[in-house]
Amino acid sequence: MFALRNTVSNIFQKRAFSASASQATKVAVLGAAGGIGQPLSLLLKLNNKVSDLALYDIRGAPGVAADISHINTDSKVAGYNPTPEGIRDALTGAEIVVIPAGVPRKPGMTRDDLFNTNASIVRDLAKACAEHCPEAKLLIISNPVNSTVPIVSEVFKAAGKYDPKKLFGVTTLDIVRASRFISQVKSTDPAAEVVPVVGGHSGVTIVPILSQTSHPDISGEARDALVNRIQFGGDEVVKAKDGAGSATLSMAFAGARFADSLLKAAEGQEVVECTFVESPLYAKEGVDFFASKVTLGKEGVKEIHPVGQINEYETELLKACLNDLKKNIQKGRDFVKSN
Ligand code: NAD
Ligand code: LMR
Repeated sequence: MFALRNTVSNIFQKRAFSASASQATKVAVLGAAGGIGQPLSLLLKLNNKVSDLALYDIRGAPGVAADISHINTDSKVAGYNPTPEGIRDALTGAEIVVIPAGVPRKPGMTRDDLFNTNASIVRDLAKACAEHCPEAKLLIISNPVNSTVPIVSEVFKAAGKYDPKKLFGVTTLDIVRASRFISQVKSTDPAAEVVPVVGGHSGVTIVPILSQTSHPDISGEARDALVNRIQFGGDEVVKAKDGAGSATLSMAFAGARFADSLLKAAEGQEVVECTFVESPLYAKEGVDFFASKVTLGKEGVKEIHPVGQINEYETELLKACLNDLKKNIQKGRDFVKSN
């Protein structure tokens, strides 16, 4: 697993004075001037696998780009305005497009409450991607991820450009949280904690598999509390921000890690991440998208791994997950078909 701590220290050791991108890779961020978009763009500017960074937003992207462009790493940064030419130029040639565009939650809201606003934002951006960079790997951060990813797939299908290997719902923040939270319970190094988190990205659809960690002994109330914290970690931040949005900095970290994993895979390394993709694992149950461990390769998804052995408690969590997930996925699909 990628440890950003190491990466950041490598970046500063190796790149502070001179830097050269190892290959030409353009990454576009849509929603780049937002709470996630800005720190995510900053972290991508520090990634020496990125040669061109295209920052697009409905407001403020040129300013963010000018600011980030002064960082002394070798990649080019450009900001784009919301015009047909702006989105075209931001996307043309992009190998990876990260999409954190859309509104965040306020206290009392579920991620599904964002659907009415974010569904059309994601649909329209997906249309632009299908037109200008149909081959790009798309990393969807905008919530509700359980529905926005199926929206993108439907848009690409309608355009005749869909490749399920290249569409990812970013659930890395659940993985990041799970390893941090378990380390707090066990007083261990979070970087050494690997917790598979499967299912989707909201409430009970987030299923941590504690039995597959190095602490399968966590049980009873301690287990319930830990699972609940992982499932509802997002709410913790929404509540603490008190109306000013949801997780941005930890999400930027998680998004940068996932993008880095795909960039490593594009260079020929085998990297495994949990991510929400079109998946055969529970298709018989009517659930066509599911997050599980995925081996990433040059073309995107290389191999989808089954959830593996789980205990009775986790089997119940999975049942609840599949039930909600099915409805969330259908909602996304229906939206594209009727709009
Ligand atoms: P934000 O409001 O701070 O930023 C969103 C940005 O999107 C803004 O700059 C806005 O101008 C821009 N935007 C809106 N419509 C756009 C469009 N059509 N094209 C381009 N840009 C557009 O919000 P945020 O805190 O950055 O959160 C963004 C999204 O990410 C939310 O939906 C949030 O729920 C989601 N999120 C997901 C995860 C996850 O784990 N997947 C984690 C945190 C947040
Ligand atoms: C998160 O998990 O932090 C994000 O999905 C944002 C949210 O609404 O909680």
